[in-house]
Amino acid sequence: MAIPLFQTRQDERVIRSGPVQSRLEPTPPATQPPVVEMRGLTMQWGAKPVLDKVSLSMQPGERIAVVGPSGAGKSTVLRLLAGLQLPTAGELRLFGEPQEYLRLDQRRPPDVRLVFQNPALLASLTVEENVGFLLMRLGRMNSAQIRERVQQCLEAVGLNDVADQYPGQLSGGMQKRVSFARALIDDPDRDEGAMPLLLYDEPTAGLDPVASTRIEDLIVKTTTVARGCSVVVSHVHSTIERAAERIVMLYGGRFQWDGSVEEYRVTDNPYVVQFRTGNLRGPMQPSDH
Ligand SMILES: Nc1ncnc2c1ncn2[C@@H]1O[C@H](COP(=O)(O)OP(=O)(O)OP(=O)(O)O)[C@@H](O)[C@H]1O
Ligand SMILES: [Mg+2]
Repeated sequence: MAIPLFQTRQDERVIRSGPVQSRLEPTPPATQPPVVEMRGLTMQWGAKPVLDKVSLSMQPGERIAVVGPSGAGKSTVLRLLAGLQLPTAGELRLFGEPQEYLRLDQRRPPDVRLVFQNPALLASLTVEENVGFLLMRLGRMNSAQIRERVQQCLEAVGLNDVADQYPGQLSGGMQKRVSFARALIDDPDRDEGAMPLLLYDEPTAGLDPVASTRIEDLIVKTTTVARGCSVVVSHVHSTIERAAERIVMLYGGRFQWDGSVEEYRVTDNPYVVQFRTGNLRGPMQPSDH
């Protein structure tokens, strides 16, 4: 039996764009809780916090890009959302639930999927085993069903005939796409109302422009069809503008700017202008951190 990768649901056309202004303000009451709610979130290792009491709210269906220079704390934001580390201070809620434990220690973890900055594939497993890992562990599908589903995910990221190969036999860009397919794979028995939060760390770094476009469209497609939310960290302008509808600029431990892609293109906010134009002059300087 064919198991569709993307199940069509009646409301898949509805993508909430959310308000574009005052996003750092508390959000008005909604029927569903925000998917992400950070309140005064701080992450500190050394003398200076990497994230300094940041607040951000994300509504169902939103696609956000987090941008900022290297070392600004973008991957840290994703690791906190993925439950790989706990904040030093402040509150993080996902789907309305306070996150007090690391993800591994949670009894009913939220559906959060992280595509790492490096592909992080298991070298001793084939591509098929890597992508189908979760389904094999759940043990609810037979191997033919898993194979078919893995194949659909690989095709969705533009990979054919690689299922039996090992990661070491693939190029860096292909490995990246395999890691993307792994995040797409879905448990068919998952709760009807479930809404994944998809996190992508530099999803298009090292890919050629066509492969990048495919990945960008895939981010939009999976977010829409799975009725999920996505947070994309990227320096690539096409990815920021194509995969996201809202952009937040992280620098100096704070979200310095928050707005729609349209606003991002025209704003005269000095942080955004410097990032957009790649200018060496501006408020963001290497000596600052
Ligand atoms: N586990 C850790 N222990 C100590 N410091 C850490 C740890 N993880 C991150 N940092 C520090 O936090 C800062 C932000 O790191 P992060 O990886 O979030 O940056 P980034 O914005 O993703 O950068 P890049 O664009 O280069 O990937 C860096 O100064 C980094 O050294
Ligand atoms: Mg990073």
